[in-house]
Parts: sequence; C-alpha cells; structure tokens
Amino acid sequence: MIATTPPGQARWSSRAAFVLAATGSAVGLGNLWRFPTEAGMNGGGAFVFFYILFVALIAAPLLLSETLIGRHGQRSTIGSAAYLARQSGASPAWSALAVVGLIANTLILTFYGVVAGWVIYFVGSTGMDLFGTIAAGQPLAGAYADSTVEGISLLMPNLFANPGLLVAMQAVFVVLTVWIVARGVKGGIEAAAVWLMPAFFILLIAITIYAAITGDFGAALTFLFTPDFERALQPGVLSSALGQAFFSLSLGGGAMIAYGAYASRDTNMGSTSGVIAFADTSVAIIAGLAIFPIVFSVGLQPDAGPTLMFQTLPAAFHSMPGGAIVGFLFFVLAFFAALTSSVSLLEISVAWVTEKFRMTRVNAAVMMGVIVFAVGLLSALSFNILADQRPIPFVPGFENAGWFDAIDGITSRLLLPLSGLITAIFIGWVADRKLVNAETGLSGPVLVAWRFLIAWVCPLAVAAILVIGLFPSLL
Ligand code: PFF
Repeated sequence: MIATTPPGQARWSSRAAFVLAATGSAVGLGNLWRFPTEAGMNGGGAFVFFYILFVALIAAPLLLSETLIGRHGQRSTIGSAAYLARQSGASPAWSALAVVGLIANTLILTFYGVVAGWVIYFVGSTGMDLFGTIAAGQPLAGAYADSTVEGISLLMPNLFANPGLLVAMQAVFVVLTVWIVARGVKGGIEAAAVWLMPAFFILLIAITIYAAITGDFGAALTFLFTPDFERALQPGVLSSALGQAFFSLSLGGGAMIAYGAYASRDTNMGSTSGVIAFADTSVAIIAGLAIFPIVFSVGLQPDAGPTLMFQTLPAAFHSMPGGAIVGFLFFVLAFFAALTSSVSLLEISVAWVTEKFRMTRVNAAVMMGVIVFAVGLLSALSFNILADQRPIPFVPGFENAGWFDAIDGITSRLLLPLSGLITAIFIGWVADRKLVNAETGLSGPVLVAWRFLIAWVCPLAVAAILVIGLFPSLL
C-alpha cells in the first residue's frame, strides 16, 4: 500500500492560493479569445444561455471530480487516478483518463503557446504605438505605423508572413512558462497566480467600465442575453457551448487533478470548485461585456471568428478615445491570463515525469518545454511555410485542416471529452462511494444532486458531444 501523502509533496500555502491558481488555470485565452469568438459565431444569447447551463450541470460537477481525484491521490494526475482506482478495488487502468488528458493538454499547450505568442506580438505593437516609438520598417511596428484601420488589420497577416518572428514570440512564451513551472508549485505557479490574477481582475474591470462608457453597452447586453431559442436548438450551438465549458474550465486534461493534488486536507473541495466555476464563468461574461460594446460601437461584425480579438479589436481601440492605452492594457491582460493557464498545462506532464523518472523539476520542465516548443512549430508554421500540409485528411471534418486546426480540433473535440467521459464514469460508478463522498465535502441534497449529475447527466451529455465531434456530418 502506498502512503497517503508521499514525502516531499508540494502544497499551496493557503486555500486562497489554491483558488487563485486554479482560477488562473481556468481563466485564459479560452475566456478572452475563444468565448467571444464562439458566442459571436453562434448567435450570442442562445450560446451564452446553454454555456451557462452546461457549466452548472456538467462542467462544475466534473471540476469537483477532478479536484477530488487529485486531492485524494496527492500525486501526478496519472498517479492520483491509479491510486483512487486501487483504493476502490478497481483496475489502475482507470488512470487512462489521465493518460488521455496528459496527451491532450501537452498538445493543447503546443498551439496555446502559438496564440499566446500572437498576444505578445500585440503587447509589443500596441505598446510601441502607445509610446510613439515606431521606427518605420521595423517588423514590430510594421503596418501599425500608419494607424489606419486597414493598416492595423494587416498586423496579423504581416505576422503570419514572418515565420521567424512568429516562432520567436512562441519561444518567448514557452520559455516564460517553463521558467515559472521550474520554480515549483509555491515559488513559481502560486507566486505567479497571486500577482497576476488580481492584476488581471483590476484590468478587466477597468476595461469593461471603459467599454460600457464609450461603447454600445445596450447592444452588447441584448446580443449576449437575449436567447433566440430557435437558433439554440441547432445541434452545432449546443455542442460548441458544451465544448467551450470544457475548455474554459480546464477540464478533461487533468489540470484540475494536478492542482487539486497540492490542496490541503482541510480544503472543502465542493465549495472551492463552485467558487472556481463561478469565477471563470463570470470572467467569460465580463470579457464579453468588455469586447462586444466596442465591436458594436464601431460597426464591426460579431461573427468575425478567431480574428475578432486580434484584428478587429486593435482597430476598434484605435478609433476610440483613450483607445491606445486601453488597447495596450487589454493585450497585457490577455498575456497574464494566458500565462497562468499555460503553467497548468505544462505542470501536468512535469509532475508526472518527476514522479515517474525521478527527474528534477527543472530538468523535467526544460525537457517538456523543448518538446512542446518543437511540436508547436508545426502549428506556428501552419500559417506560412507548412500552410499546404493536411496532417489528418482521413478524419471526417478535418480533410482541409492544417496543423493548427488539426491539433486544436483533435484535442477539444476528441481527447478532452473522452477523458471527461471516463472521469465521470469512474467517479460516478467505479470509485469507492464513501471515499469519494468524503472527499467532496458535500452533504445532504447537494451531495445527492452532485452524484446524480456526475453519474447520469455528465456521461450522457459528454458522450453526445463526443459523437458529434467524431461525426460532424450527423449535425
Ligand atoms: N482554461 C484555459 C483557458 O480558458 O484559456 C485553457 C486550458 C488550460 C485548457 C488548462 C485546459 C487546461 F488543462
């Protein structure tokens, strides 16, 4: 029998530190970049309505399941899942949920680093614009120098046309992520979250107030909160709302198992998971309330797709009073959010490698960073040098996908839901009931409701997205 608390196991210094770190993992480009994109492309209110419903009924219960697996096991994600399985008299093969998750999250980090690299580029270009230090002809200044909407919207294509710069930005972000993870749980991840998350919240509130005053707040409210149910009942809207709930709460990959493992025995996992889910969802909604008033006030289309944040927003900021400074602050904010998420993506494999191969944390972080960067090159270069490659033409729906879309699609449509499905079945049906119930910290009707959601609603709903993800033609 393995000891309950392995010697040398790291701990958060307080419950607040755990909440900040886990919220830091959840709040990221998924809230600022993916949520407005998805809401914009899926008709606004209908998408938002189901997204919130799915967070409450599916994602939050799954979040509690992941954190409790980690806190009970106090090991890497794979080690913790295997430990709970063994203690429940079940096969350690149930740790497959964490194996799938580890692969998924490592792959997510490969392209997350690329998008975060774009964010760094925009921090640089909006910063240069702000401080008026644009030297004509320098790549970072580029089209921004002429300050027209057309010029600004060329920033992205210009970046894509410059593979060296694209890869350099990606490298900067991966190095920062490795550096924080290498410093350890308390000195690195916790320290980063404790500083960056409050700074993030202050900036987000400031930008939202600015958007409410200078933008078209009424149009944004109507767009986000008036559900068109006819539109909502299209399966595409439902499945993307569910997928967004998964991605945004960092579920399926094991990030919450990894962070739960550093929580102390006296942390109430039920209420803490509720706080994290509430905070993440609030940030998504607030981000929507910051972005859409600006989009509407300058007459942009909400369904611009993934370029919404990178192409339309800088242009919009530019034409608004005080926009130069707010634009810069917005990208600084996105950078903080991305960094506290990427460390959780890297932590999963680093914790496992140190546990399994007795490697030091620094070596493990550097090794995984090199792998993530190298695989990430495929995504970074799929916007230029590798633009013609179609890595998985045999998968339905991915015939025309390049590396970036293929890796993004395979992870969020297939691997995360698959891991989530195994987790729900494992916790709802296989793991020792008493052990699990005790770990939740819940009691009475709330415990009964959680058990029902995790045993029935989660597996059925997640299986449904999985099927839709695998066979998009069914829609
Ligand atoms: N939740 C993060 C975001 O919204 O940007 C992304 C993410 C982080 C997904 C960690 C998965 C994960 F394990």
